Amino acid sequence: MSSLDNALLAIERACGSGSVIRDETLLEGYAGDESETTPCVPEAVVRASNTQQVSEVMRAAFEHGVPVTPRGGGTGRVGGAVPVPGGIVLTFDRMSAVKHIDRNELTTRVQPGVITGNLKRAVEDEHLYYPPDPNSRDSCAIGGNLATNAGGPRAFKYGVTREYVLGMEVVLADGTVLELGHETKKGVTGYDLTALMVGSEGTLGIVTEATLRLIPKPEATVTLLACFPSLDDVAPAVRALLSQGHVPSCIELLDAEAIRIVRPEAGLTIPDETKAILLLELDGDADRLDGDLEVCGNALTDVGAIEVLVAQNSGERERLWASRRELSYSLRRQAKNKLSEDVVVPRTKMADLLQTCTELSEENRLIIPTYGHAGDGNLHVNFLWDDPDQKRIVKKAVRRLFERVIELKGTLSGEHGIGVLKAPYLPMEQSPALIDLQQRIKSVFDPKHILNPGKIFPTDAKRFHGAC
Ligand code: LAC
Ligand code: ZN
Repeated sequence: MSSLDNALLAIERACGSGSVIRDETLLEGYAGDESETTPCVPEAVVRASNTQQVSEVMRAAFEHGVPVTPRGGGTGRVGGAVPVPGGIVLTFDRMSAVKHIDRNELTTRVQPGVITGNLKRAVEDEHLYYPPDPNSRDSCAIGGNLATNAGGPRAFKYGVTREYVLGMEVVLADGTVLELGHETKKGVTGYDLTALMVGSEGTLGIVTEATLRLIPKPEATVTLLACFPSLDDVAPAVRALLSQGHVPSCIELLDAEAIRIVRPEAGLTIPDETKAILLLELDGDADRLDGDLEVCGNALTDVGAIEVLVAQNSGERERLWASRRELSYSLRRQAKNKLSEDVVVPRTKMADLLQTCTELSEENRLIIPTYGHAGDGNLHVNFLWDDPDQKRIVKKAVRRLFERVIELKGTLSGEHGIGVLKAPYLPMEQSPALIDLQQRIKSVFDPKHILNPGKIFPTDAKRFHGAC
């Protein structure tokens, strides 16, 4: 019997044969994610029901040297959940409970398979708030959010996933179960391995439970949309908004191409001459919000907004956000191929980044819709193309974009991670010594390199996924 067969036998004994999927047609559903990463059908999918089972799975995989790729909602954008040849996928749809919401401590204990939107709704029912809000929130899982340190529009005011993680239970590559971090709001005992685990893309350990920090739910929210005649107005508008002292919960940008796609769904009449939109939300005490809205509206008009539209009711607001959330999927339908980057530059350098996108589009005759989290300097630059011959041009343009981002002292990924797709570019941002240190850390946690191999590091990606 092969190592894989031996491992699967042990796994079936631990989890029950009904928890192990071997049917080829079902396995195909676990071969890819929501990116252009080449799919790879796993040998098996294991649906774990509890920590003990995850531990047994890893013990067997470790003993027999079988690669394991943990998978949340499968909504990743860089191939982080794409398995490797000869590997198995571990899923958490049976570990999707919000185990506890503590209104006094302002914490919640969750399992990794809980859908982020469900968690958000569950805590909001208790008048509490879990701010991280990736746009895929109705299909992504907390486990995946932890793996990528997910953000979303409201990261601007509230920060990203890592800022809400107090502690976690993890299973290491050899099956060891550990508690990291703490349940308390403060805690500085030992190295901050919780922080290390968040954003490690499933390469260091498998989170089986997490304690997340909550905040009181903002009393009221208002959404507004400012239309500008030029993309050049965006950077001054963001500056103006921030200098008047009211921090919006998000400042989202849509360029002209993104507007063209969103326009039919937005539910508000956007003036024809609009070439850039800022979508803003303000939240806080109901009695202060009207004043804040006026100050922000005036600031936007002063810097040249043609129109500032305010969503008048929850229906309008939801429609606006639904079309924003759909944007990434709508873009995918615009061309046969799409490559979506999520670069970040210092907020003050956003005009330079937007200028680079325009130049790349003109020089290469490519359609590059750009949108994203302008308040954070984090933009989704989308390369769309139909003709396979254009791929070479797109690759060159992507490299040029990254070079510029690094020149501007930015970073390659703000929220999607490095995964497979960005791994070849890691050395553009990080020194050989830094990459080597991280690879040595990986080896300490996962000496046999069975835990989500082929991610983050260029040599690994090339070896396991053929990415170059
Ligand atoms: C978004 C995802 C792609 O902001 O990050 O739409
Ligand atoms: Zn985003």
